[in-house]
Amino acid sequence: MKNILVTGGAGFIGSNLVRSLVKNYPEYKIINFDALTYAGNLLNLKEVKSKKNYQFIKGNICNKKDVQKVLLENKIDSIIHLAAESHVDRSIKNPISFAETNIIGTLILLEAAKTYWNGEYKNKIFYHISTDEVFGSLEEKGLFSENSRYDPHSPYSASKASSDHFVKAYGDTYGLPVIISNCSNNYGPFQFPEKFIPLLINNIINNIPIPIYGDGENIRDWIYVEDHVRAIDMILHKGLIGNTYLVGGFNEWRNIELVNLIIKLTDQLLLREDGYSNQLITFVKDRAGHDRRYAIDSTKIKNEIGWEPSLRFEQGIYVTINWYLKNKKWLNSITSGDYKNYYKETYL
Ligand code: NAD
Ligand code: DAU
Repeated sequence: MKNILVTGGAGFIGSNLVRSLVKNYPEYKIINFDALTYAGNLLNLKEVKSKKNYQFIKGNICNKKDVQKVLLENKIDSIIHLAAESHVDRSIKNPISFAETNIIGTLILLEAAKTYWNGEYKNKIFYHISTDEVFGSLEEKGLFSENSRYDPHSPYSASKASSDHFVKAYGDTYGLPVIISNCSNNYGPFQFPEKFIPLLINNIINNIPIPIYGDGENIRDWIYVEDHVRAIDMILHKGLIGNTYLVGGFNEWRNIELVNLIIKLTDQLLLREDGYSNQLITFVKDRAGHDRRYAIDSTKIKNEIGWEPSLRFEQGIYVTINWYLKNKKWLNSITSGDYKNYYKETYL
């Protein structure tokens, strides 16, 4: 029996996690605490909305009173903290909101957990979901591991690095039972189309130019979101307090190669002739501070917890493209309104 607080449960990874926990653990109580920023969407949770073991509470992690209240009223013993500002391009434009949510918000949550648990740490866990971007950029060779040095380059990764340090500090200083995992680039259903893969798919569907930053040679290690969710579940149940786990897909792609693959598959699924959308490829000005390569060595979580990615990328990307094609209503509801302004400001 657990009373789990998931922060950011209406976002991309959070909603995939909440759906999975609600379904797999009817005996647990899952409380989704989310401020519903532009990235939070209750449509992502339609499937679980009326389940007995699920509750949504609208709230901001920066609001001390609301955070304390949610812990107390729901007798929370496990916190999985995903709420964050998560998009690098937005962090370049508005770094302060990233410091507010990702650093101060995390600190408020840590402090509230410390106060509420008040030294009674048996069967308690504060599990912080972080990113591989905190380790900076790799050259052509090498992999990030749990021993990699922190070296963030964007305001987003600097804010996540800072939050990691606060989480570790609460473990070291107050004995708070903390765990951190740092994951590589997720893809899959319900991802907001500011991120590269859903943006690509949406642009191909609508014949909009595909913006590729710089020379298109940057490399990311892509992981299917359900594989990440399975890793979170296993770390929650089997992870050792005080530990960090790196989670990756063993699946590196150069951006330009990824674009070619997604064009090919999407055109096929839309019954367009081969190469139809190649004309959409547009090289644009590079992202400031653009990290060249991320890649993760997930040996520790494999050896100690028994997790490894299950889905082959060719399969995962096919399922993902199909999902966006079948969920045009969802996609349209997000890409109308504010998204249009964001797109104009960022790309046009
Ligand atoms: P997302 O942007 O899709 O969702 C973030 C969620 O947090 C949204 O539902 C939003 O409403 C909520 N939120 C934002 N500010 C809040 C606040 N102040 N109070 C309460 N809720 C707030 O993000 P995502 O891609 O699902 O990422 C989730 C977490 O995983 C983040 O911490 C991110 O750093 C981390 N992460 C993401 C990836 C990835 O590839 N997307 C990879 C590794 C780690
Ligand atoms: O590595 C984990 C991180 O992955 C997460 O912590 C972040 O929350 C998540 O946003 C993601 O960060 P990236 O910056 O790697 O992802 P993004 O989808 O923004 O970009 C992926 C790559 O594609 C990157 O090299 C930049 C490039 N890109 C992106 C966009 C949006 C383009 O070339 N054109 C674009 O329009």
